[in-house]
Amino acid sequence: MNILVTGGAGYIGCRLVPALLDAGHKVRVVDKLVFGADGLAALKDRFDLVAADVRTVGGEVLSGMDAVVHLAGLSNDPTAEFNPAANKAMNTDATIRLGKLAKEHGVRRFVFASSCSIYYTLSPDNELRHEEYPVNPEAPYSWSKRQAELGLLALADASFCPVMLRKGTVYGQSPRMRYDLVVNTFTRDAYAKRRLTLHAGGRMWRPMLHIDDAVAAYLIALQAAEKNVHGQIFNVLSDNYQVRQLAHEVRRTLEGDKGIRLDIDLQQVGVSRSYRVDGGKMREALGFAPRHSINNSVDEMWDALESGVDIENPIYYNIRWLELLCEMESRLKAMGGNVF
Ligand SMILES: NC(=O)c1ccc[n+]([C@@H]2O[C@H](COP(=O)([O-])OP(=O)(O)OC[C@H]3O[C@@H](n4cnc5c(N)ncnc54)[C@H](O)[C@@H]3O)[C@@H](O)[C@H]2O)c1
Repeated sequence: MNILVTGGAGYIGCRLVPALLDAGHKVRVVDKLVFGADGLAALKDRFDLVAADVRTVGGEVLSGMDAVVHLAGLSNDPTAEFNPAANKAMNTDATIRLGKLAKEHGVRRFVFASSCSIYYTLSPDNELRHEEYPVNPEAPYSWSKRQAELGLLALADASFCPVMLRKGTVYGQSPRMRYDLVVNTFTRDAYAKRRLTLHAGGRMWRPMLHIDDAVAAYLIALQAAEKNVHGQIFNVLSDNYQVRQLAHEVRRTLEGDKGIRLDIDLQQVGVSRSYRVDGGKMREALGFAPRHSINNSVDEMWDALESGVDIENPIYYNIRWLELLCEMESRLKAMGGNVF
């Protein structure tokens, strides 16, 4: 297939694009390159890169495509809350616009990177949320994902097949690394401080997903028979964990595999936004079988840290990076646009 991947230079995209190429697909990436394109550098010449914003990109990027994987946008709560108007424009409006453009260009399959955070609740309970569970998220990020889902679902017809993948929180190593995702943050803290800090007693539940299992889910959603995915929402996760369980898993792995001793600092204060999600539909309807464990990914991330990563570089933390870019943008404007 010819596949357009928006946001392909991001954390997930940098693992997805090589997997698509290795599976024999042709790939075009559309990305604003907020974090640069270094994560795709090893794939140079194997794919087509269009540096563009999904809010304004022209429909020509869709010609000749068989499918779209739409990853681009603001990818967590803090960045969405930092600029709610940009969040709506990127995560909701641009997604629906891209869906319409795909449909106009005869691109049937449109796989959307939605999120299990749509199920957030401030009053945690142990109920598993399945895809039919009524949702009405209010936080800007989850709201924007839900509105995008609704807009894409409204476009579904005999000529257009949108598929929503509501991923859990992803973890694991990527050539474009993020240390602002819980397991990755714990591994970094283990490396840098030998200490993991848990807020709200670490009681909140999270659906979790290894980055390679996320990639596998996209491959399945692209290749599945249309009747099995047309206008469907799928939760994608390997399992649900309490944050304190994740911390213990990281500690157990590093003690066992690397001989590292870790303290766990259990703080009782903090907001406890919690949700547990049912991943049964994706497994039963599409045969999704998550294969990767937290243990392996922690070892892989540890080895990458040991090879020398500047963990203070804000590029690894989406909100810090956007704040820095905005500050630099306003300073540059004040200087008349040029440093020299
Ligand atoms: N990482 C997770 O745990 C997780 C979980 C659930 C859903 N998701 C969703 O999956 C997608 C990918 O997540 P990620 O972790 O790879 O995020 P990321 O922040 O690492 O990557 C996002 C990519 O999108 C690009 N981008 C941002 N705004 C753009 C715009 N206006 N036009 C073109 N490109 C733009 C960025 O340059 C970046 O390369 C996101 O939509 C995110 O909301 C991620």
